[in-house]
Amino acid sequence: MSQAKATILVTGGAGYIGSHAVLALKRAGYEVVVLDNLVYGHRELVEDVIKVELIVGDVSDRSILDQLFSTREIAAVMHFAAYIAVGESVTEPGKYYRNNVNGTLTLLEAMVAAEVKKLVFSSTCAIYGMPKQVPMTEEHPQDPMSPYAASKWMVERMLGDFEQAYDLKSVAFRYFNASGANPEGLLGEDHNPETHLIPLVLLTALGKRESISIFGSDYPTPDGTCIRDYIHVSDLADAHVLGLEYLLKGGTREVFNLGNGNGFSVKQVIETARAVTGREIKAVERDRRAGDPPVLIGSSDKVRQTLGWHPQYPDLNDIISHAWQWHQKRHG
Ligand SMILES: NC(=O)c1ccc[n+]([C@@H]2O[C@H](COP(=O)([O-])OP(=O)(O)OC[C@H]3O[C@@H](n4cnc5c(N)ncnc54)[C@H](O)[C@@H]3O)[C@@H](O)[C@H]2O)c1
Repeated sequence: MSQAKATILVTGGAGYIGSHAVLALKRAGYEVVVLDNLVYGHRELVEDVIKVELIVGDVSDRSILDQLFSTREIAAVMHFAAYIAVGESVTEPGKYYRNNVNGTLTLLEAMVAAEVKKLVFSSTCAIYGMPKQVPMTEEHPQDPMSPYAASKWMVERMLGDFEQAYDLKSVAFRYFNASGANPEGLLGEDHNPETHLIPLVLLTALGKRESISIFGSDYPTPDGTCIRDYIHVSDLADAHVLGLEYLLKGGTREVFNLGNGNGFSVKQVIETARAVTGREIKAVERDRRAGDPPVLIGSSDKVRQTLGWHPQYPDLNDIISHAWQWHQKRHG
């Protein structure tokens, strides 16, 4: 067993992506403390599967943060805690600005007060809005189209201001579609409600849903359905460790896309899931949804070149196979 490195605070570490990052950090030799209010997280993944300390609390609770920073030598923070449902953010914008923006502001102020000045932040490709060209680079114009996307855009803006005023260094990763599950079947995606395509397709395969909806089959794409960039969650987690190490070595503020660089259509996802699961998976074609771009693909050239990141699982078959393994265990 290698000697433990620095202690990292992971907010939202009981959630889907956060839990994979906690496992990656632990395996890289870091001490980890998770702060999660468990509104959407899963206690057992942190305590029983990954086996690191979990503090049940909210990032907008300044007293918990002050206590945490004063009783531990925290070297950096990975901040995943946020609400993530784009549709809900349109009907309940206050919930998203309060949690995602105010919550992050409280965290940043507590970090500055405690002299903890390194942060890895979960941002999103949704800050770009409608793609003007694909693949989208980090220089793509920004036009967040939902309160959720705007909340992430505002935090990125705050990170620039906090670097200038207080020298707080950060790496913001703009994820494309996080998907898949830990290849050993330890962790996986378990949102409630679930809004993401791959888990919805697999819940249909398991008979938990009657059918999967295809929203629009007349898009200007080869099979008429929308194309998205699916990135394996373990590859995302590995990038976070690289981003952290970049900051620990003295790196300054950066933003990076995290995508596969490869797009797959809704029909390709369903076909691959049928092949992987050996189940029928009923699909129903419906009207387009407002605001869905035909193609969303990210360029990850910058993160590959700057941090030396290489995705291990860019293949859709691997992504769906790993997710299926997890879904069978969790819901089968
Ligand atoms: N899933 C994706 O495809 C995707 C894409 C782009 C960006 N992101 C971002 O990645 C991050 C993680 O997403 P996820 O899919 O793992 O979501 P998730 O809901 O599984 O995880 C979020 C975790 O944060 C916790 N949380 C929320 N608000 C909190 C608060 N105020 N205090 C403490 N804990 C709180 C929840 O209980 C949950 O465990 C989010 O910031 C999200 O915006 C996700």
